[in-house]
Amino acid sequence: MSNRYFSPCPRGLETLLVEELRALGASEPEQVPGGVAFAGDWPLCWKVNLESRLATRVLWRVAHGPYRNEDDVLALARQQPWERWFAVDNTLRIHVTAIRSPLKSLNYVTLRIKDGICDRFRETRGKRPSINTERPDVRVRAFLTAETCTLYVDTSGEALTRRGFKHAKVEAPLKENLAAGILLLTGWRPGQVLFDPMCGSGTLLLEAAMMAQDIPPGIGRDFGFERLASFQPGQWKRQRAMAEQRRRRGTTVQLFGGDIDPRQIAATQANLQAAGVAEAVQCDAGDFLDRAAPAPEGVLVCNPPYGVRLDEAEALAEWYPRLGDHLKQAFSGWNCHFLTADPQMAKKIGLKASRRTPLMNGDLECRLLEYRMISGSLRKPHQD
Ligand SMILES: C[S@@+](CC[C@H](N)C(=O)[O-])C[C@H]1O[C@@H](n2cnc3c(N)ncnc32)[C@H](O)[C@@H]1O
Repeated sequence: MSNRYFSPCPRGLETLLVEELRALGASEPEQVPGGVAFAGDWPLCWKVNLESRLATRVLWRVAHGPYRNEDDVLALARQQPWERWFAVDNTLRIHVTAIRSPLKSLNYVTLRIKDGICDRFRETRGKRPSINTERPDVRVRAFLTAETCTLYVDTSGEALTRRGFKHAKVEAPLKENLAAGILLLTGWRPGQVLFDPMCGSGTLLLEAAMMAQDIPPGIGRDFGFERLASFQPGQWKRQRAMAEQRRRRGTTVQLFGGDIDPRQIAATQANLQAAGVAEAVQCDAGDFLDRAAPAPEGVLVCNPPYGVRLDEAEALAEWYPRLGDHLKQAFSGWNCHFLTADPQMAKKIGLKASRRTPLMNGDLECRLLEYRMISGSLRKPHQD
């Protein structure tokens, strides 16, 4: 049986997600801004949850219809056979998002959908599920456009960006799926040298280590689909075990990290440890501007600070040319990538970007700037 699914992802990664879903076995992947719709059976849904590095969630599409008011949405919810999809003892949470919906209150829409689902359970099972907004067993999501309402059962539960083992937190870490997407965009592939010289809590390094060792990103967590009537524990266990067996342990360290703040290095090491990949990465505290390249060539990738330590615009404006000079002096032969939301960076670094890829980091509009450091070329004078 083929279901329809929708996986949201960070904007800018849709094309990569189409490729990833195809490789995982999804049919008819179709991208829209912010995600990809696709089709497949239940084992495919479990596999995407376990193995996708780019999807934020996997939503199972269960209903779609036109609406003009809240009662139409309630009717759409009430018509669906929820009692066949999950048991009444499960706790429930409804999430509603909308683009250009004429309805005034999304809270009221949420209540109406809850009423529709509860009415349906009362009619068919004689009781209704309770609501739990903190840790629900089942999440139902509604997406309203100006004229249509789509209902989904969330097969992921917690967002897939929660890989299940990142503990040490710092300010403004990258989301895991954005980090994985950035790595793919740089062209880095397992086996090549990778260096994040401003690694913070180590999100890019952690994702790279998991890719290098072929560790499924969801191996340490559970999923919403485990609560659904369609779940087959035996088959899921076999699927997980097979994915786990693919793990490759690297012999030589090809991943390098650095940060000016030793506490960030400690956070990175704790996170790598929790994921069981600490031996794959070498991390050292220090100012990047004093650091030599860890190998003759490789991929450098990072998101430099904006507004944290070097928070003054003038301080950053002064720092970018020094960063550019350091790349020219110490990183010839390297392919360097910076995720930045600061338009000053491209202007002040004194290098010509060979590519600028627009990406959304949450609500922040960013660019992934690529600088190919071929000695003596691609230089341009500083601009003020
Ligand atoms: C935006 S954060 C990186 C976040 C990281 N990608 C993550 O996911 O956690 C920028 C980092 O750059 C570090 N940093 C700032 N100036 C630096 C410098 N000159 N050399 C090395 N690291 C620096 C900061 O300590 C901070 O951890």
